[in-house]
Amino acid sequence: MLPTNSRDSGDSTDPVHVAIVMDGNGRWARQRGLERIEGHQAGAERLRQIVKYCSRRGIRYLTVFAFSTENWRRGKDEVDGLSQLFQNYIDSETAMLHEHDIRVRFIGSRRRLERSLINRMTSLEAETSEHRKMLLTVALNYGGRREIAHMARNVAHAVVRGEIALDEITEDLVGRHAYSPDLPDPDLIVRTSGECRLSNFLLWQAAYSELEFVSALWPDFTVSHFEGVLENYSRRSRRYGAL
Ligand code: FPP
Repeated sequence: MLPTNSRDSGDSTDPVHVAIVMDGNGRWARQRGLERIEGHQAGAERLRQIVKYCSRRGIRYLTVFAFSTENWRRGKDEVDGLSQLFQNYIDSETAMLHEHDIRVRFIGSRRRLERSLINRMTSLEAETSEHRKMLLTVALNYGGRREIAHMARNVAHAVVRGEIALDEITEDLVGRHAYSPDLPDPDLIVRTSGECRLSNFLLWQAAYSELEFVSALWPDFTVSHFEGVLENYSRRSRRYGAL
């Protein structure tokens, strides 16, 4: 487990946990007369750069939204193409993740995923489990409401089994049933492509997150865009409801 809220490296005003909605791959492809999957490939290339940059900068936790529970509504070709892309990405990036001391974890439901993808996800989690510089969490077949329902179900089970009383249900207890309970809440959530919404991403954890919406499409989101976002963040004053 990485130290929570550790600021022992990186810029002291940097967020400890950054979460990103990587939006705009489809539009990026359309603008160039390419297939949507080519936009996702360009998005994967961009992710590689941002992961390396975050690790070099000393960001301790990076979480990215790769596939939502709603994304199954896309065409079969695109869904199959994304599944293949995720598998290729795991194969091609494993060495980089080791080199940069990055641990990987996946959150979301594995139920509808291809067996070959699930196997790679499980192996990558095991292979990188000792890495400590950064934790990269990939939300895959993830939905925030589904996660909250999962938390509610687990808490209800504990009540039914007599392990806890109703008045012991606190925010802290509910939060301990999240998919990744030791992950600190994101300090900053970034969404690219100009859309200003969370789209069911980390709904429980986003309660006090700072939000940044950037007009660049994800494949165009460079390290200097990201530096600008971190610069904006460093000027914000976070009050968590206090004065
Ligand atoms: C949203 O863009 C993006 C996705 C649904 C997929 C995100 C996937 C990647 C960035 C590929 C790399 C990820 C990993 C983990 C290897 P969109 O298709 O909704 O874009 P649009 O709104 O312009 O159509």
